[in-house]
Amino acid sequence: MNVLLLGGTAEARELARLLHADGIAVVTSLAGTVTNPHLPEGTTRVGGFGGADGLTDYLRGHHVDAVIDATHPFAERISASAADACGRTGVPLLRLTRPSWAVHSDAASWHWADSIDQAREIAGGLGNRVFLAIGRQSLGEFTDWGDRFVLARVIDPPDIAIPASWTVLRARGPFRIDDELDLLRRYGIDVLVTKDAGGPTDAKLAAASELEVPVVMLRRPAPPDRVRLVTYVADVMVWVKGLRVGVAGQRRRSR
Ligand SMILES: NC(=O)c1ccc[n+]([C@@H]2O[C@H](COP(=O)([O-])OP(=O)(O)OC[C@H]3O[C@@H](n4cnc5c(N)ncnc54)[C@H](OP(=O)(O)O)[C@@H]3O)[C@@H](O)[C@H]2O)c1
Repeated sequence: MNVLLLGGTAEARELARLLHADGIAVVTSLAGTVTNPHLPEGTTRVGGFGGADGLTDYLRGHHVDAVIDATHPFAERISASAADACGRTGVPLLRLTRPSWAVHSDAASWHWADSIDQAREIAGGLGNRVFLAIGRQSLGEFTDWGDRFVLARVIDPPDIAIPASWTVLRARGPFRIDDELDLLRRYGIDVLVTKDAGGPTDAKLAAASELEVPVVMLRRPAPPDRVRLVTYVADVMVWVKGLRVGVAGQRRRSR
């Protein structure tokens, strides 16, 4: 059974490990946007497919039996491509998306934003020393904030001009609460802008809560229609094992 795993997350790496250990042929696909990514176990391919058409060709050309979309909840385009390509080819697709922070105990105290524009507007009214923890790709939406202090945390350096009033901090999580507290204090942060990446715990949110720093939380995009969703790695394993039985039976019958 050939599984294509769309990755770029810790959950995808965990899945690759489990599938590999179970003897299932899995290829993890990475976008190639991060230098020195954490590589999963097993085979990896890197780079875009060329939209839904390219992914459709890949699924057919590589006899893929199942696709697991374990990309980040904000990776909208690849998820849409996967839904489209799997719809066209009939290859089963499962979307793994971490539990949202909408159920976090502090969620009601956050300022929820439906778009980057709205997040910007809300944050602009809350403080002048902003911690942007939204990834590299959305920084451009804030660069006219040359009149305030911005701490932008990114994995790779931004490829856009950054205002002189900003500090860019290159770091890769997970982070410890003590370090996050130290960071917020050291830079005198008075508003945190982040996105609903979800997951078990998040140190920056805990630190913001402790220091009573307001949080602007960017809401997740809606997943593609008609795609089966699960929130835990264990659910994916159950799905794959069920499919494996079907694929093995099909292969026996076609012999
Ligand atoms: N967005 C985030 O906040 C975030 C955070 C952490 C990790 N990531 C990871 O970083 C990657 C890129 O995120 P993004 O927000 O730029 O996604 P995106 O907007 O959905 O993807 C942009 C393009 O990158 C290619 N791509 C994305 N993920 C891919 C994958 N796993 N394998 C092959 N091609 C992929 C696709 O190119 P083609 O159209 O040419 O196929 C896609 O159209 C994702 O794999 C995601 O899991 C994203």
